[in-house]
Amino acid sequence: MNILIIGNGGREHAIGKKLLEDNHYINIYFYPGNGGTSMIGKNIETKYSLLELGFFAKKNLIDITIVGSEVFLIEGIVDIFQKLGLKIIGPHYLAAKLEGDRIFSKSFMKKYGIRTPKYNIFYSYKKAIRFLDKTTVSLAIKTNGIAGGKGVILTHNKNEAKKALETIMIKKKFGKSGNKIIIEEFLQGKEASIISIFNGKQIIPFLSALDYKKIGENETGMNTGGMGAIVPNPYMTNAIWIDFQKNILMPTLEGLISEKLTFFGFIYFGLMITSNKVYLLEYNTRIGDPEAQTLLPLMKSNFLDIIQSFFINKKVSIFWKKLCSCCVVLSSKGYPEKHENGQIIIGLDSLKDPFYIAGAKKEKEKWITSSGRVLNIIGLAPTIKEARKKAYSKVEKIQFNKLYYRKDIGLYKE
Ligand code: GLY
Repeated sequence: MNILIIGNGGREHAIGKKLLEDNHYINIYFYPGNGGTSMIGKNIETKYSLLELGFFAKKNLIDITIVGSEVFLIEGIVDIFQKLGLKIIGPHYLAAKLEGDRIFSKSFMKKYGIRTPKYNIFYSYKKAIRFLDKTTVSLAIKTNGIAGGKGVILTHNKNEAKKALETIMIKKKFGKSGNKIIIEEFLQGKEASIISIFNGKQIIPFLSALDYKKIGENETGMNTGGMGAIVPNPYMTNAIWIDFQKNILMPTLEGLISEKLTFFGFIYFGLMITSNKVYLLEYNTRIGDPEAQTLLPLMKSNFLDIIQSFFINKKVSIFWKKLCSCCVVLSSKGYPEKHENGQIIIGLDSLKDPFYIAGAKKEKEKWITSSGRVLNIIGLAPTIKEARKKAYSKVEKIQFNKLYYRKDIGLYKE
């Protein structure tokens, strides 16, 4: 069996490792992959258009393609592959707008009564500025396009909000994605990520996760792709799960079916938990990174069976190990801005699983850093506290020049 995994991060390495662990007989291709994925499969090194990649998949008898990265989904890879008769996991172009087009997504939430923070949409800078006179609350000012995961500025007073509007709509810091914006009420609370599979009829949630998004400890500084995660999310109490199912998951399913936005793939609910309610901040139409690296080592079920169940119209249950997981992301100092690659990494060859390569490659028998996020190191244990301890004891075995990681992954306020 031949599988193609699309993306180049730790998430794709984790998906590949999990599939191989459960199914030794499969061959995995990665596009474009990274130094870690080249150890377990074949990286496709030629740069292809999506159509050319589809032809590559046909020629190489790919049975199933799994898309990790949203960039390809938003460009419509699923439609192209399906037209070529290929099986692919991910949303088609329209459904990918749930992640790629924030106005589309918020309108969907509103139409189906999905609980989300209050918001207003603006196409004009002048009207947006005028609106600020009527508001006093903290705001999340968001570009319509996702601008590579950036494009969200949190503001706490009118001056900050004015500056944010100028940055987005006048200076065009996030390019065209800032031509239309959303001004959203900023809710104080605890975040949670619920990743789920969607088979067109049911949405089946994975365990809950907590993603540490900021570069600095205590959630300070710039937003990143994610500096670590834990599973389960300690704030997802039973009452919050019930609230989520009733006010977010079920109406989402109803909306997807009514709007004919069904697909085989993943839905990621980005949540904010306030004192007693849960709100949907955003959808992603893929597995999160580093949530995938944190969740997949806990999955007892065969991940390939889950993916294949889509195509044979079979119901699945997902089983999990009764453990907690903590993932610490090791990065190059300077990330998410300017940083240096090419540093030699010490200790990687003797590191115990689970761990994943996010941005490193092997050259002349040495591992060297090749991007901002470098490694994902996981600890598994019966409690978060122990999982965190295990992860950090593995982190101590790794060294490279200008290594940076957060020391507070797995810590949370009760
Ligand atoms: N961890 C957040 C994301 O994958 O977008």
